Amino acid sequence: MDIVPGITDLRARLRREQSVAFVPTMGNLHDGHLQLARTARGHGSCVVASIFVNRLQFAPHEDFDAYPRTFEADCEKLAACGVDVVFAPGEGEFYPEPQGFVVEPPELGNQLEGEFRPGFFRGVATVVMKLFNIVQPNVAVFGKKDYQQLMIVRGMARQLNLPIHIVGDQTARAADGLALSSRNGYLSQAERAEAPRLHQTLQWVKSQILTGMPDFPAIEAEARKKLEQNQWRTDYIAVRKQSDLQSPRLYDRELVVVAAARLGTTRLIDNLEFSR
Ligand code: PAF
Repeated sequence: MDIVPGITDLRARLRREQSVAFVPTMGNLHDGHLQLARTARGHGSCVVASIFVNRLQFAPHEDFDAYPRTFEADCEKLAACGVDVVFAPGEGEFYPEPQGFVVEPPELGNQLEGEFRPGFFRGVATVVMKLFNIVQPNVAVFGKKDYQQLMIVRGMARQLNLPIHIVGDQTARAADGLALSSRNGYLSQAERAEAPRLHQTLQWVKSQILTGMPDFPAIEAEARKKLEQNQWRTDYIAVRKQSDLQSPRLYDRELVVVAAARLGTTRLIDNLEFSR
């Protein structure tokens, strides 16, 4: 596996490749990332993963400085699952000057996650566009755990005519249902034991809708209560359409319930797709 920090060297390394499948990451890799890398293996002759903690998607009060950097362990894991190239630029290589040009997502970028993390999706769309321009992959793989991120990246690729097929990969979960996330590492032992309640609550929402309960706001409010009775602070829990993450009408069948909530100081997100 080649580890390449420079953009010019990366382009030279990839020039001879038939097809490139790409997995962008911020490092601190867990089995969910490795699943993305294995999925990518089936989509290209060369698999590239990037490791870059993107300052632009962190608000000043968020965990940019504290975000775990585990570069050597990450590279060992990526090599073990067949990644060919790791692109790991330093900050100066990736942002040699202040990033004045940005990719501004549409209104969806200000909803749900965007309401609680203003500017987050601008930071994500901008870094992903830059990574796409540098790596020039044929296929890029993103996890469905970050459902709204996947939708925004898909919209960006479609509306800006990027010749890249975006693959959404299933959320990897621990045996007790907790979605794998780099931020799970911040949970205390007691919080880790409580954390699966988020996924259980999403399943409860789904079960209520599938039994024919039509009042989605009432279900969302009850779900919020279930979390908050157990010391969670809920940012949002919302039933939306899979197609565009907007509120569903009576005849919409393909739904997803998305949620973000805090346990202590750790903010977890999750979602569950279902059809009715
Ligand atoms: O999902 C992530 O880890 C990040 O948002 C991404 C896509 C690597 C961009 O920094």
